[in-house]
Amino acid sequence: MTHQFYTTPIYYVNAKPHLGHAYTSIAADVSTRFKKMEGIDTFFLTGTDEHGDKIVQAAEKEKTSPKAYADKISRLFQDLLPLLQVENNRFIRTTDPDHIEVVKTILTKIHDSGDIYFSSYEGLYCFGCERFYQERELVEGKCPDHGVAPETIKESNYFFKMSKYQEWLIDHIKSNPDFIQPEQYKNEILSFLKEPLEDLCISRPKTRLTWGITLPFDENYVTYVWFDALVNYVTALGYPDGDRYKTFWPTTRHFVAKDIIKPHGIYWPIMLKAAGMPIYNGLNVHGFWNVQGSKMSKSIGNVTDPVAVAGEYGVDAFRYFLMREMVFGLDANFTEDAIASRINSDLANDLGNLFSRVLSMNHRYFKGRVMGSDPNLSARYSLEEDAAKAIAGYAQAMASYKFHQGLIAVWEFISTMNKYIDTNEPWTLAKDEKNKPALGEVLYQLLEGLRTVAGLVFPVIPETSRKMTTALGLALPEAGFASLEQIRPWNQIPAGITLEKPDILFPRIEVKKEKPKPKAKPFKPALKEEITIDDFSKIDLRAGVVLSAEKIENSNKLLKLQVDLGAETRQIVAGIGKSYTPDQVVGKEVIVVANLKEAKLMGEVSQGMILAASKKKNLILSGFDSTPLPGNPVK
Ligand code: MSP
Repeated sequence: MTHQFYTTPIYYVNAKPHLGHAYTSIAADVSTRFKKMEGIDTFFLTGTDEHGDKIVQAAEKEKTSPKAYADKISRLFQDLLPLLQVENNRFIRTTDPDHIEVVKTILTKIHDSGDIYFSSYEGLYCFGCERFYQERELVEGKCPDHGVAPETIKESNYFFKMSKYQEWLIDHIKSNPDFIQPEQYKNEILSFLKEPLEDLCISRPKTRLTWGITLPFDENYVTYVWFDALVNYVTALGYPDGDRYKTFWPTTRHFVAKDIIKPHGIYWPIMLKAAGMPIYNGLNVHGFWNVQGSKMSKSIGNVTDPVAVAGEYGVDAFRYFLMREMVFGLDANFTEDAIASRINSDLANDLGNLFSRVLSMNHRYFKGRVMGSDPNLSARYSLEEDAAKAIAGYAQAMASYKFHQGLIAVWEFISTMNKYIDTNEPWTLAKDEKNKPALGEVLYQLLEGLRTVAGLVFPVIPETSRKMTTALGLALPEAGFASLEQIRPWNQIPAGITLEKPDILFPRIEVKKEKPKPKAKPFKPALKEEITIDDFSKIDLRAGVVLSAEKIENSNKLLKLQVDLGAETRQIVAGIGKSYTPDQVVGKEVIVVANLKEAKLMGEVSQGMILAASKKKNLILSGFDSTPLPGNPVK
C-alpha cells in the first residue's frame, strides 16, 4: 500500500478528555508516524461527536446551549493533541457543515434504494445509551452500561434494514482475516452475528430530541447519533468526489476500543454496503485502561487527566509508558508506581544511561571526536547485525500494531549494547595506548547503535528521538525524522566530527515510598526433600501471558485462565481467586508449569499450573522484571 488512512473514534463532548481518549489518539499517531517512516503517504483523522441526548443533558447541567457546550469541550480535545505530540491532518466535528451535507447525501442514497423504512416500534429504551435494548441484552432487567432499568417507549421511526446484510457481513469478516483484529474481537463480532440481526432505528422524533441532523426525507426527525457519527470518516476525506476519498478510503484502519466494536464492526460496514460504497480496510481494537485496578469513573474519582500526567512526567515518557505497558487488545492498568518504574528502568536506566555512558566515554577518551570505523577491527566489534535484527523485529511488530513488542525489540538491542560495554570494557582498553584503535572502534559501533535506536523510537518518543539524533552530530532529515531506509545503512556518523557532552535524556523519578512496615517474623517453612538438578530439569517451566480470566461458578478460589504460551493457548485453572479478580490477572506475565499432567478441577480442564508465592492467606503471582516472549523456557 502506498497510502494509509488512520482514524480515532470521534469523542463525545459530554465530558473532558481522559487517559483513554489520549491512548487511542497516541496509538493512531504512533502508527501514522511509523507508516511515514516506511515512506507511506498518510492521513490521520480525529475529532468530536457532538449531537444527541448525552450532549443536550450535559449542556443543560451547565445551563448553556448544546452548541456552546460542544464548542467548549471540543476545544479541549483539540488543544490536547499538540500537548501529546499528536499530529493529525484534520479535526472533524459532527457540527461541521460539510459533515451535515454528507450525512444527508448518504441517508438519501440508502433511503432511495429502499433499505430505510418507516414503522412503529415499542421497545425498551435506555436514555444514557440512546438506544433500544433487547430483553436478553439486559443484566437483571437493567442496562449493562448504566445500571438503570430502560423505559418502555412506543414511537414511529425510520429503520435501516441491517438484517438484509447479515450473511454478507459474516462472509466479509470471514474472507478478510484482518478486517477485525486482534482475533478475539473478530470472534466476539462473529458470535454476535450468530443471532438474527435486528434492524436499526436510525431516527429520533424532534418531539423528543432536536439536537441532531434533520433527516433529508422527513423534517420531523433527526438522525440517530451513531448513523451521523460513523459517516465522519468519509466526510473528512471529501466524499463523494474528493481525491483523498478515492486514494485513502480503501486503506482505512479505524482505531477503537472494545466498547464500540458493534457500531464499527456491524452498523458501519452494512451502512457502506447499502450505500454502494467500498468497505473500509479494517478495525484495530484495543482494550481498556483501568486506573488503580478499577474502571475509570467519576464516582470512584479515578478519571485520569492526560494533561496532568504528561505535565508531571513529560510527554515522551507518558507516550512510552502507554505504548509499552498495554498489550494492544488487552486491558492494562495505570498506576503512578507503574509509570514511575517504567521511566526509571526503561528510559532512565536502560536508554538514558547507555546514551550518556557512550557520549561521556567518547568525550573522556577522544575529547568528543568521532573516530569512525576501521575495517580491520569492525569484523570483531561490529554491532551491525544486532541493529539489523532490532530493526526487523521492530518493523514487523509495529506493522501489526504490537507496539509493546516493537519496543521490546528496540530495548533488547539497548540491553545488548549495555552488555557489549561491560564485555569490551572501554575503560580497560583506554589504559593502553596500543588499544586506542579498538577503543575508537567500540565507541563508534555504540554511536551507530544509538543512531539506530534514535531513529526507531521516533514514532513513540519523537522529542527524544530528535534530541538523540542532534547529539549524535546528524542533521535531521528534511521530513524531521529518519525513514527506515535511512536508518538501515551502517557507518553513517561522519568520522572526525566532534560531539558535545550529553544532556540527561530522562531524569529518574522519585518513587513515593510507603512508610516501611514493622518487619514480620521471618517465615521458615520446612523444606521439602532434596532433589537433584536432573529431577528439577524434568519440570518444563515456560513464560506465559494471561489472555483472559473468569471466575468458576460455585468456587471463590478458582479462576479459569487462557494463557498464551507462544505456539498454543492453554486453559489453566488456578487457585488464586481469593487474591486476584479476573481483571487483575489479564495481561500478566506468569511462570507456567507446562508439562504437568492435564487434570479436571470443578469440571474444568486444567492444562498446567502457574507459580505463585504465598503471603499469609494470599497468593502473589510470580513473574518477570521485563517482558519475556510467551512460550520461552524459564530456567
Ligand atoms: N462518540 C463515540 C464514538 C463515535 S466514532 C464514530 C464514542 N465516544 S467516546 O468519547 O465514548 O469515546 C470512546 C473511545 O474512547 C473508546 O473507543 C476509546 O477509543 C477511548 N476510550 C474511552 N475510555 C477508554 C479507556 N478506559 N481505555 C482506553 N480507551 C478508552 O464512543
